[in-house]
Amino acid sequence: MRLVASRRFQSFCSAVPGLRSIARRDGEALFDLVAGFVHSQILWSVVELRLLHRIAEGPQTAAGLAVGSGLTADRMAILCNGAASLGLMTRGRDDRFRLARRGAALLGVPGLEAMISHHAVLYRDLQDPLSVLRGGETGLAGFWPYVFGAGAAEDPATTQRYSRLMADSQTLVAEETLRRVDVSRAREVMDIGGGTGAFLTALGQRHVGPRLHLFDLPAVVSGARDTFAAADLAPRVQITPGSFRDDPLPATADVITLVRVLYDHQDDTVLALLRSVHAALPAGGRVVISEPMTGGARPNRAGDAYFAIYCMAMRTGCARSPARIIDLLQQAGFAAITDHGTTRPFVTHVLSALK
Ligand SMILES: C[S@@+](CC[C@H](N)C(=O)[O-])C[C@H]1O[C@@H](n2cnc3c(N)ncnc32)[C@H](O)[C@@H]1O
Repeated sequence: MRLVASRRFQSFCSAVPGLRSIARRDGEALFDLVAGFVHSQILWSVVELRLLHRIAEGPQTAAGLAVGSGLTADRMAILCNGAASLGLMTRGRDDRFRLARRGAALLGVPGLEAMISHHAVLYRDLQDPLSVLRGGETGLAGFWPYVFGAGAAEDPATTQRYSRLMADSQTLVAEETLRRVDVSRAREVMDIGGGTGAFLTALGQRHVGPRLHLFDLPAVVSGARDTFAAADLAPRVQITPGSFRDDPLPATADVITLVRVLYDHQDDTVLALLRSVHAALPAGGRVVISEPMTGGARPNRAGDAYFAIYCMAMRTGCARSPARIIDLLQQAGFAAITDHGTTRPFVTHVLSALK
């Protein structure tokens, strides 16, 4: 690797066919890392100005898109050219911008636009990444107030804001989770930290058998009844408001799910929660954990270069590898642990274990 770092070796490689293309690919990849933050800002601006929606209705010139945006036509052209270079739009010979495949895909992913918009908070924090890395105060911690305990999450406007974001982005997580673990024969599934019931709704629509039990903070579950009623699931549902940090968990379910919950919290909170889950399950009962995970000894982009940093910026969060979660499950008394893996690590990764 020392050799690769030498300037002489690099200029030798750039002159030799074969090595030249490897050197060019490395150069492009490095430049993408340098430019990554700018790419994110282009994406954020395109979403904020709803440009993809507008060109989905028909091709548009930069001047047309500039109307009502607060941007001049020239500056809108620069933004759209950037978006075209990132594969979100195409620019035709007629200088009109059209939706590209990646842009269309973005519009089709439920909750993705809201997810991108809320990154404004993270980007502000990452203006000083060393402060985030050193454990300084962050705006993102305020977005997820429960990280400092249940009592911090009582303001309805704040809980509604994060609950809506979570519910909107739940579709793919539920799809991936329910494809990987079969809970069709469960008697009752309790979803802890289940927000306003989006995961249980997906589960209830897929499997007609299990009763559905939602457990989350009082300010959060107050919005759940409407979700279940709209899906005609109300008769199968029980809702228990409470804090898994402070209250006992109901001991009624034979399957307990924790979807995007553990990575919000430090090890001591997670271990206490897993112990409570273990105590609440009957012998042979199952816990299912679904959330994005890091790569452990083999770091991966989604887990290690995104979720680990995001969770750190929440201040109490911690993205973990499957091996680390398995270790915590074992400490909590679980056995027969299965890693169900993932095909979309940026969506979720699924583990299950038996009591
Ligand atoms: C990241 S969200 C995930 C929501 C949902 N499971 C999903 O995947 O869409 C974490 C959830 O855990 C809940 N939560 C946080 N602390 C909690 C506590 N002490 N007791 C119960 N629920 C809690 C939050 O209210 C929130 O709904």
